[in-house]
Amino acid sequence: MFKRFRRVRINPILRDLLTQTKLTTDDFIYPLFIKDGESEFKKEIDSMPGVFQMSIDVAIKECDELKKLGLRSIILFGIPKVKDSIGSDALCSHGVIARAIKEIKQAHPDIFVVSDLCFCEYTDHGHCGILDMKTQSVDNDKTLEILNKQAIIHAQAGVDMIAPSGMMDGMISSLRVALDDGGFKNLPIMSYSTKFASAYYGPFRDVAESSPSFGDRRTYQMNSANRDEAIRESMADEEEGADILMVKPALAYLDIIRDISNNSNLPLAVYNVSGEYALLQAGKKAGIIDYDKVMLETLIGFKRAGADIIITYHAKEAAKILNG
Ligand code: PBG
Ligand code: ZN
Repeated sequence: MFKRFRRVRINPILRDLLTQTKLTTDDFIYPLFIKDGESEFKKEIDSMPGVFQMSIDVAIKECDELKKLGLRSIILFGIPKVKDSIGSDALCSHGVIARAIKEIKQAHPDIFVVSDLCFCEYTDHGHCGILDMKTQSVDNDKTLEILNKQAIIHAQAGVDMIAPSGMMDGMISSLRVALDDGGFKNLPIMSYSTKFASAYYGPFRDVAESSPSFGDRRTYQMNSANRDEAIRESMADEEEGADILMVKPALAYLDIIRDISNNSNLPLAVYNVSGEYALLQAGKKAGIIDYDKVMLETLIGFKRAGADIIITYHAKEAAKILNG
């Protein structure tokens, strides 16, 4: 006796009835890159067709378009006018992201605004925190102090959730205490809890202008070969008080997404990063893949692996298809 699997595949309605994983526009967070300077600014990124640096006024208009597509969550990255050794623009209430949060929330109270909390876009050396001059590497504990300040500035500007992405040890407990003491007990933290040192971030560093000027991020971001450590990193952030965990990148780490989803009851986000997006776009341009189908298959893969939230540059394209 063998099983006739196709019995339940023949009728399309039955196929729909039995579809286990469904994508909706509620699954997505759409990244926006806010460039300080002149207004009405919008510049497409060569390696990422469809992704733009934009000024705050353009981002506000972009939110209108997102809402029409049924997209209601964004994550903000800032490109400041001036960079310095400690990323001062991120530590001041007039900095690019503080203003972006305020102005976007004012124009769109119904958009859920997440802010990426890190320093690589704001430092002249491009590393994710304060440098220790002696070792020329990031000083973890000093960086925790300025991360707290950055978080309070975003909170005061009205952000709905913060997303620390710098992979500093102890960042979640430190941020939770700072937010609670600062009167923001109900502000959620989505931790980039398992973030690998990945070449897939290449195009992002072009758009965010955040490449390290020397060295790399392997002292604070994770080794892609390590599964146990990947789980430990996320479990530690759960213990420290993270509300949502994250795996980043997504496509080469589906096993890690499943592992963390099995090991934690917290909601899990994945970041479908710039290099993953750029590869599909390049495949489309070369005419070698059915882009829409490959994109949806990829996004379904993340959700099937255990993701509750997908941060993706594909959000608008996917929404157009999902909305029919
Ligand atoms: C900042 C940050 C990075 C990404 C998100 N937040 C880059 C990095 O760590 O170098 C990457 C996102 C992407 O590639 O789409 N720490
Ligand atoms: Zn960073």
